[in-house]
Amino acid sequence: MKKHPLISALTAAAIVLGSGFAVADQAGNVKSLRNDPIDATNRLDEVLHQQSGRVARNYRQQPPLIPHTVDQYQIDLSANQCLACHDWTKAGERGAPTLSMTHYQGRDGEQLDEVAGTRWFCNQCHVPQANAPALVENEFESSN
Ligand code: HEC
Ligand code: HEC
Repeated sequence: MKKHPLISALTAAAIVLGSGFAVADQAGNVKSLRNDPIDATNRLDEVLHQQSGRVARNYRQQPPLIPHTVDQYQIDLSANQCLACHDWTKAGERGAPTLSMTHYQGRDGEQLDEVAGTRWFCNQCHVPQANAPALVENEFESSN
């Protein structure tokens, strides 16, 4: 098939433009996302690992911090893998702390056998912790 002359001209223009960009690259206009030159070794920020071991609460009503990893535990509309260990029906055999009574209390104070909908998304209140520098100043003091 014979190429239309316009297409050949466009292709040639694209090649010229492309090599133009390549020259610009070498001139050092391209930077990595961390703003390092592209031939420099990428430096990573220090990885702050999650603290393990139970952490004392800072105030009486605090949702306790999670002392184990959570990235493998799915929580969505139909599944909650935290319950496989923490629900009152499983906690004994799994050696995990049982959800307290407040997690089985309905909106109107009624006692439920299954975890309350208001407590379904555990990580809304419970989070793991790392010993990382504070992102913003925090002057919190616990009440006594
Ligand atoms: C494989 C079982 C297992 C699963 C799944 C699991 N946990 Fe745990 N969890 C434990 C055990 C065991 C402990 C106690 C650890 C200890 O004493 O050091 C614990 C401790 C905790 C504590 C601390 C309680 C306290 O009083 O200090 C919280 C909060 C917690 N888990 C939340 C969660 C959440 C949220 C999920 C889901 C994202 C989850 N866990 C999934 C086994 C599990
Ligand atoms: C709306 C916030 C909230 C949600 C959602 C929530 N919790 Fe809690 N949780 C708390 C608070 C506050 C406490 C401490 C006071 C209490 O027991 O009610 C607590 C206590 C706990 C404890 C310690 C119980 C004890 O007696 O030592 C565990 C374990 C726990 N939660 C796990 C979970 C898991 C797993 C989920 C998800 C199914 C979940 N929580 C959802 C707020 C929440």
